[in-house]
Amino acid sequence: MRVKIGLLGLGTVGTGTAQILLDPWGRNPILKDIEIKRVGVRSPSKSRQVQVSPEVITTDLEQIVIDPEIDIVVELLGGLEPARSLILQAIAHKKHIVTANKAVIARYGDEIYEAANQAGVYVLLEAAVGGGIPIIKPLKQSLGANRIKSIVGIVNGTTNYILTQMTAAGADFGEVLAEAQKLGYAEADPTADVDGWDAADKIAILASIGFAGRVKREDIYCEGIRQISAADITYADKLGFVIKLLAIAEGSKGDDSETLQVRVHPTLVAKDHPLASINGVYNAILVTGEPLGQVMFFGPGAGAGPTASAVVSDIMNIVGILKSSGGQPQGLDPLLSVTHQHYCS
Ligand code: NDP
Ligand code: HSE
Repeated sequence: MRVKIGLLGLGTVGTGTAQILLDPWGRNPILKDIEIKRVGVRSPSKSRQVQVSPEVITTDLEQIVIDPEIDIVVELLGGLEPARSLILQAIAHKKHIVTANKAVIARYGDEIYEAANQAGVYVLLEAAVGGGIPIIKPLKQSLGANRIKSIVGIVNGTTNYILTQMTAAGADFGEVLAEAQKLGYAEADPTADVDGWDAADKIAILASIGFAGRVKREDIYCEGIRQISAADITYADKLGFVIKLLAIAEGSKGDDSETLQVRVHPTLVAKDHPLASINGVYNAILVTGEPLGQVMFFGPGAGAGPTASAVVSDIMNIVGILKSSGGQPQGLDPLLSVTHQHYCS
């Protein structure tokens, strides 16, 4: 059985994704059963770093999401619209969704998961938080037995890269931001990174999963790194700290009482703290749970290859289910539909 996918976007992450799918040799054999049927872009004549056949490229994204031959729509456009509408349209046409779009999920997760629940399709989003770090599924599945106490992380690669370069090389904010954009780490609108909104979207998603209840994006206090100067970094260093943009969710959320606090802000982190040594584009997420104690997830938080690794693993999960069920999954696997119960209960 061959599974056909429609790729929305062939930018940094779309290119990384297509590169893996078009070069399955030596990887999991399931990849050989996946075909890229259509690729939607804005500028079809742009030169690309991946050899996608020109016939599959189109600017008609709606055509992709309603195509009866396409099983999985992979949304890698970024931004809120048309991403949200195309995801909903694809779900209405019974397509499974893989997305890296934390902005859309953090704001419209309720609507999207409600629609997916009704249509009986999956919406997987491993790449939306932590780039290449497996965090969504481990948090839901492997740590599922815990009462989560806190989730504290460096979840934005661009700002960690900027702060690291400012600390190590005394580099200028603007120059390092331009470098991060060139390396494909930053959002199309980098203010989302610099002002902490991207980190807020990500912690909204992690907290919704970890604390088993919807955390609304607009309830999160959010402060970015624009005000951090070289002098702040120097003084922090003299006092034994580094400055990191942390996304923090701590407390509890339940039927009886709610003490959960979720926030994003630059933080003085003691040099011997595990998050102090996370540098460059790397992300790390410390999860504290009971009875687990503490576990840290660490890895590349942005960039084409690492993010595509997470996107393709989601595609493979869905393909695995479709193959084992003859193309018609009978009821959703509650372990894979990671945020269903949190957005839809
Ligand atoms: P890019 O800006 O590099 O790529 C976006 C792609 O979508 C481009 O191919 C662009 O077409 C296409 N596109 C955008 N809007 C439209 C539209 N209205 N109509 C048609 N095509 C459109 O983004 P990224 O690859 O960096 O990011 C994609 C998603 O992945 C975002 O949600 C981002 O937050 C997320 N993400 C990104 C990471 C990263 O490291 N970059 C890491 C983790 C998640 P064209 O090429 O013709 O301009
Ligand atoms: N712009 C994001 C970052 C991409 O820098 O972390 C990964 O989500």
